Amino acid sequence: MKLFDVYPLFDVNIVKGEGCRVWDDRGQEYLDLYGGHAVISIGHCHPHYINKVGEQMGRLGFYSNSVINKLQAELAGRLGRISGYDDYQLFLINSGAEANENALKLASFSNGRTRILSAEKAFHGRTSLAVEATANPNIIAPVNANGHVTYLPLNDLAAWEAELQKGDVCACIIECIQGVGGIKLATEEFAQGLQAACRRNGTVLICDEIQCGYGRSGKFFAHQWLGIRPDIITVAKGIANGFPVGAVLISPEFTPKYGQLGTTFGGNHLACAAALAVLDVMESSDLVENARHTGEYLMTRLKDLQQSQPHITDVRGRGLMIGIELDIPQKPIRERLVYEQHVFTGCTGTNLLRLLPPLCFTEDMADEFIEKLTNVL
Ligand SMILES: Cc1ncc(COP(=O)(O)O)c(C=O)c1O
Repeated sequence: MKLFDVYPLFDVNIVKGEGCRVWDDRGQEYLDLYGGHAVISIGHCHPHYINKVGEQMGRLGFYSNSVINKLQAELAGRLGRISGYDDYQLFLINSGAEANENALKLASFSNGRTRILSAEKAFHGRTSLAVEATANPNIIAPVNANGHVTYLPLNDLAAWEAELQKGDVCACIIECIQGVGGIKLATEEFAQGLQAACRRNGTVLICDEIQCGYGRSGKFFAHQWLGIRPDIITVAKGIANGFPVGAVLISPEFTPKYGQLGTTFGGNHLACAAALAVLDVMESSDLVENARHTGEYLMTRLKDLQQSQPHITDVRGRGLMIGIELDIPQKPIRERLVYEQHVFTGCTGTNLLRLLPPLCFTEDMADEFIEKLTNVL
């Protein structure tokens, strides 16, 4: 059988990782400012993570959601405390798309409505309603184009308010820092105005923190920079450092009903052990604060580079989620970074390099990256 060929691949076979570095099968080392697409939060192969996941694997990898799993309750308690959402409820699944799918279902169960507002350039995943909320017609299959979603420009509060006033909107879903959309930041004024308009009109506000959350922005959640408290928050990616876990944080306004949501694999013992180990390391190594100050350092160095490097037209982001906009296509730059300089970065669109390193990234690594980017530019 052949693989279903949907991914354009770099000609590199990564076989080993440690911290913010990975190695290919020929022993070549790479600096990782991509983190396997913002997934590696505490660093590759962290020893505490390996121990905790290994120990759990030796004890019990999986049992179903039909019995008590104390690791889930422990994770809910720890996550509530560290994120500032102690009073919220946790529902565990396996991916980001599933998190958004369940968040939107829950919103619709709660207010009986079917219309969704989403931002232009948003990315919310590839399952049925999550993909419909994703403003990219190329990945919405005809069966998913069900007319539930109106796309509006991020930060155009008047446009969102006008739709909300109609009184039929089930949920608004936003990324406070758009990832795939090109590191576009929601403003404080927009976020606070949107929250107020949602409350006035009985609409559920969902913040998709799958890429920008879990410490990456330099606060636990990116929306915490904006002074809002959404009704539902979705997370995935960094939550378990590569073990597939997604989660929905749900306000106390929602009352759970048996059978309303469910999953076979979600919240399994191994997944919880991985997610708990991530929280251990995030706390003991103060990784949210590290993302904030190392991110600021990297951003400052990039802005300095912009002064001498005319191909850089903009540098924007928060914490360790940074976009470098170029006046030339990013593809050859990104390829030369990998093949010549041995650095992985992300990208989006034709002109933007997207930096999403592990949250343990250091200032020395930032200097190393600046040197290598300068070589290529
Ligand atoms: C903001 C955002 N939401 C949702 C998703 C979908 O997550 P997953 O690929 O785990 O389904 C992604 C993935 O890139 C994302 O960046």
